[in-house]
Amino acid sequence: MQTKALLLASLPAATAAETILGAYIFSRHGDRTTKAYSPVKLTALGAEQVYRSGAYYRNRYIDEKSSSRINGISSDLADLTELSVTAPVDNVLQGSAGIFLQGLYPPAGSVNSQKLANGTTIEAPLSGYQYIPVNTAAAASSHQAESNAWLQGNSGCPAAVSSSQAYFESKEYFELLESTKKFYQDLLPVYESTFSSEKATYKNAYSIYDYIHVSTIHNTSIPSSELLTPSALQTLTDLANIHEFGLAYNASSPIRAVAGSVLASHIVSTLKDSISSESTQKLNIQFGPYGTFASFFGLSQLPAASADFTSIVDYASSMSFEIFTESSSSSPSEDEIMVRFLFANGTASDSNPAKPFPLFGQDKTELPWKTFVEEMNKIALEGGSKEWCDACGEKSGDCAVYYPEETAAGAAAEGGNKGMSNAVAGVIGAMVTLGVVLGLQALVLGVAGLRLTKRRKQETGDVFQVPVGKRTSFSDTSSVQKA
Ligand SMILES: *[C@@H]1O[C@H](CO)[C@@H](O)[C@H](O)[C@H]1NC(C)=O
Ligand SMILES: *[C@@H]1O[C@H](CO)[C@@H](O)[C@H](O)[C@H]1NC(C)=O
Ligand SMILES: *[C@@H]1O[C@H](CO)[C@@H](O)[C@H](O)[C@H]1NC(C)=O
Ligand SMILES: *[C@@H]1O[C@H](CO)[C@@H](O)[C@H](O)[C@H]1NC(C)=O
Repeated sequence: MQTKALLLASLPAATAAETILGAYIFSRHGDRTTKAYSPVKLTALGAEQVYRSGAYYRNRYIDEKSSSRINGISSDLADLTELSVTAPVDNVLQGSAGIFLQGLYPPAGSVNSQKLANGTTIEAPLSGYQYIPVNTAAAASSHQAESNAWLQGNSGCPAAVSSSQAYFESKEYFELLESTKKFYQDLLPVYESTFSSEKATYKNAYSIYDYIHVSTIHNTSIPSSELLTPSALQTLTDLANIHEFGLAYNASSPIRAVAGSVLASHIVSTLKDSISSESTQKLNIQFGPYGTFASFFGLSQLPAASADFTSIVDYASSMSFEIFTESSSSSPSEDEIMVRFLFANGTASDSNPAKPFPLFGQDKTELPWKTFVEEMNKIALEGGSKEWCDACGEKSGDCAVYYPEETAAGAAAEGGNKGMSNAVAGVIGAMVTLGVVLGLQALVLGVAGLRLTKRRKQETGDVFQVPVGKRTSFSDTSSVQKA
């Protein structure tokens, strides 16, 4: 599709005069096995995809010869104070992040060796392999521990869950459910080993698409494959795209896209760090599911740049937010800093480079930092913040800290502090608040840990589907976060 954005994208991006100050990359995992059978695993193909994407970003941001190199970033040996890499506790996403890093900072041979006191030189194993930790969101940096809901924005957000559920009551949904009945039934011989006739409907558009999509990549023998014409495959894909975007975003119910809101908040706070003189952090890399891309796309009005932004991004897709300046000053002012958004659909490579697109319905692909922050803040919600709790309608668990009266009232209702004077209740409320603030990190980690165990029983891999049951599960994001 030739769009305005693509035309803009073909303009030369980086002028020699600009200096990249930092970047935030958000990436999907590589090719994986189908979600229809657990455990979901990253495949060799998937590993290769994220590895190549990592190598692409090395060429762009790390390599000494690159004109887009992040200013001052270490080029051969990873400097862990410059990097922050995070992925949910999910084998597909963790594995993807680990392999991506091998493309970003490959084994450095003798450069990654040390001379011992007795004069012997020791090279790290596997040809100077660089072991860059992939943190879970909570551990990424201690001051972000409270916001560890950021990658699992949908989990624990009742308002988002019910907003997504509302999709299944929308006119759009019922119309498609009806009009595609025959289509899904006709294809039944292809997938009846996995989906019963009852389940073969638009309601399961994503699950069916995922199963078929994976089969076309990995399975040499698809039953009744003659039914899977190119046009049938396209229709399966289109329907899954509509289904998933419907769950991820609705203009009149922004809370549905809370995953994108929490991501937006994290991007802004991280990039702020990158330009702050107190921080050494230069490159932040996060792995997450396609649902978060979709929510963010909707919120940041990318569909106005290209209708493609309403579809499921391919495996190993990545988006990058790079901050740069054209000033030659060693400490440019905020007014001299700009932000550029780039997206690569599928593995980023020289033949499929990350391309700039205009955010927020603007006509420019480069935004002044202040405008960017202003626009991002309109859609951002910091995971676990008071705003997040309010927007999500969540008052218990991690959010209880913001509703001391309600906590006290709850306790009173249980008879716990019957007869307590208001003054005493007030003091206790304050102490509870203080205690919770002090213990928030531990609390968040603890709760996340519990959630993790519970969710691990569900499928992993990337999900943004609603299972046949009642509750929406946005799992690979929700299955996450542990200390
Ligand atoms: C030097 O120390 C290392 C580590 O203790 C040891 O493996 C190596 O054999 C030592 N080399 C010599 C020459 O003593
Ligand atoms: C979006 O939200 C509006 C208002 O709640 C609703 O009428 C519409 O059906 C929704 N669309 C989808 C696709 O969920
Ligand atoms: C390939 O398809 C066959 C027949 O439906 C099925 O039994 C098998 O599990 C599939 N293999 C994979 C890897 O999905
Ligand atoms: C990504 O590529 C797929 C085809 O592989 C396409 O259907 C989709 O629209 C593209 N998405 C974006 C955001 O470019």
